[in-house]
Amino acid sequence: MLKIALIGSTGMLGIDVNAALKGVNFLVKNFNSKNLDIANSEAVNSAVESFKPDYIVNCAAYTNVDGAETDKESADAVNNLGVQNLADAALNTGARIIHISTDYVFDGTKKTPYNEDDETNPINEYGFSKLRGEEALKNSGASYIILRTSWLYGKNGKNFVNTILKLADSQKKIEVVDDQFGSPTYTKDIAYAISEIIIKDNSKNEIYHLTNSSDGHTTWYKFALEIVNVFKRTNCEIIPVSSDKSARAARRPVYSVLDNAKIKEDYGIELRSWKDALKKYCNDIGYFIV
Ligand SMILES: NC(=O)c1ccc[n+]([C@@H]2O[C@H](COP(=O)([O-])OP(=O)(O)OC[C@H]3O[C@@H](n4cnc5c(N)ncnc54)[C@H](OP(=O)(O)O)[C@@H]3O)[C@@H](O)[C@H]2O)c1
Repeated sequence: MLKIALIGSTGMLGIDVNAALKGVNFLVKNFNSKNLDIANSEAVNSAVESFKPDYIVNCAAYTNVDGAETDKESADAVNNLGVQNLADAALNTGARIIHISTDYVFDGTKKTPYNEDDETNPINEYGFSKLRGEEALKNSGASYIILRTSWLYGKNGKNFVNTILKLADSQKKIEVVDDQFGSPTYTKDIAYAISEIIIKDNSKNEIYHLTNSSDGHTTWYKFALEIVNVFKRTNCEIIPVSSDKSARAARRPVYSVLDNAKIKEDYGIELRSWKDALKKYCNDIGYFIV
């Protein structure tokens, strides 16, 4: 039975990955900040050496995009140093790493979907720290797959869908930015893809882009409209605004749509459209968020 060390098992994505991997009958050991600080190299080495996993799936990250602007050290400790530590431990033990990264490694100036060879150029500290983590992994000598995804939502985390639903229950109008383009992605779909990658693994070191995307991209405003429709909150009005109106500490890329062709070509993986994924999410969690 394949042994998998799941890092970030208590996160929004990690919880769904745990369920997907257990469903395939892998032996999964869960790690999170309570039982393993990935910024601590000795602790990482000792945990990996004693479990001797075939795979390390890294869903851990410092994910507070605005917080990273002022707390660069914490972001770097998890998103860069932590990845370096996992990569070193993987190299020592022969484990292969599947590491999750982000569309925020790009600057958003492109007008067509980003592919894996496009130049990276983060415009916020979170993006810089994630890019440094990617580089650390690529240069480590460890066997790896880097999966870049975007605009994640799922049952077990703070995310845009749940925020809109909560606001829609308490407000008559919500202003949402309509000038940032991307692809919302359901964590369960990424979790399923990770289990598929492990089953079909071709052992190559590659970066892949993977989002719910097949019927194109959207803006946060149009995503919010779809959320209130699917979850039947249509008495709340969604108002489009420009991002200048929503002052946030970190800049976001204007356009961060990811081209998913490469993972379809190499692994036959193609996720459903973002609209279908949202309907599935509604079906999975029901109409009400607590
Ligand atoms: N959320 C998005 O919209 C989005 C978009 C694109 C890419 N991503 C990437 O997708 C991945 C999963 O994101 P997510 O939204 O599921 O994250 P999340 O909900 O914030 O979960 C983060 C996980 O990392 C763990 N963690 C944090 N610091 C740690 C440390 N020092 N040592 C060990 N574990 C630590 C947390 O453990 P505790 O629970 O114990 O603190 C938690 O399990 C990340 O790589 C993120 O960069 C996210």
